[in-house]
Amino acid sequence: MQTWTIQRLLNWVTEHFTKKGIDSPRLSAELLLSCVLAMKRIELYTQFDKAVDKQQLDRLHELVERAGQNEPIAYLTGKTEFYSLQLDVTPDCMIPRPETELLVERAIEFLRTRPGKQFVCDLCTGCGCIAIAIAKNCANADIIATDISDAALNIAAGNVEKHQLGDRIRLLCGDLFDAFVPQLDVDKFDLIVCNPPYVSAAEFEKLDKNIKDYEPKSALFAGADGLDIHRRICEKADRFLKPDAALMLEVGFTQGKAIKELLEQTGTFAEIKIKKDPNGNDRIATAVKVSS
Ligand SMILES: C[S@@+](CC[C@H](N)C(=O)[O-])C[C@H]1O[C@@H](n2cnc3c(N)ncnc32)[C@H](O)[C@@H]1O
Repeated sequence: MQTWTIQRLLNWVTEHFTKKGIDSPRLSAELLLSCVLAMKRIELYTQFDKAVDKQQLDRLHELVERAGQNEPIAYLTGKTEFYSLQLDVTPDCMIPRPETELLVERAIEFLRTRPGKQFVCDLCTGCGCIAIAIAKNCANADIIATDISDAALNIAAGNVEKHQLGDRIRLLCGDLFDAFVPQLDVDKFDLIVCNPPYVSAAEFEKLDKNIKDYEPKSALFAGADGLDIHRRICEKADRFLKPDAALMLEVGFTQGKAIKELLEQTGTFAEIKIKKDPNGNDRIATAVKVSS
């Protein structure tokens, strides 16, 4: 019988995923195999001829089956990468998306133009990806990150600890700004960032199986037009922003115009911009509060 080496397994799983229509079949195969063998991806290539034992083969087989049923690879491995940072994820939190890195970039750019300590609020933090990426790249930022899901915040807490940011990121549970405890928490920020749920009722029905069946609905769905949470943030943001502070929101690719109108209606902001992602879709709304 032929031995199952790393090389042979990688080729087999890649071919299997290609037939099943799994996204990025080679990368997905590498991620599952490196998880099962507790190796870095690069080590798979330096140990191509290593034989894989029966127990590991059984584990890989189970994960490949589940991936074939559209279970996201990040949930199977329990890990993902965001802004070049390793983060833990479970089905209790949404898997961070590459588009959200644009929001982080805008946030970092803004914070780097400002001297002194910067207070940042990351609403809807999920696994903590935005807060952690900002904290890692802006040494002068202190961050309060909130989420309505205790389970998601548990994952965020693990990630904050893993990146040794416990002294700069505080996690609070609650409905948007309601998480703050009056008198105890900072409640005037230099920057509020948020990647809220923004999927509409019609879009939710059409989501891919790997999203709809596995990621938390509360992280995705935001009412009939997908703007429920944006609307509530726009209504309340003024009270929590310092003069000259900024609000930055991720938006759905059809929502740019509607969000711009929502922000304009507040009368709070001077510069309102909708930035596109590399695919030319509306992605980030930025707004700077008028000075007085
Ligand atoms: C789209 S996910 C974003 C997670 C993470 N910030 C990211 O970019 O990957 C939205 C998050 O908002 C949280 N959420 C939903 N409704 C909320 C509310 N009313 N108040 C606070 N958080 C809420 C969900 O639990 C979920 O973690």
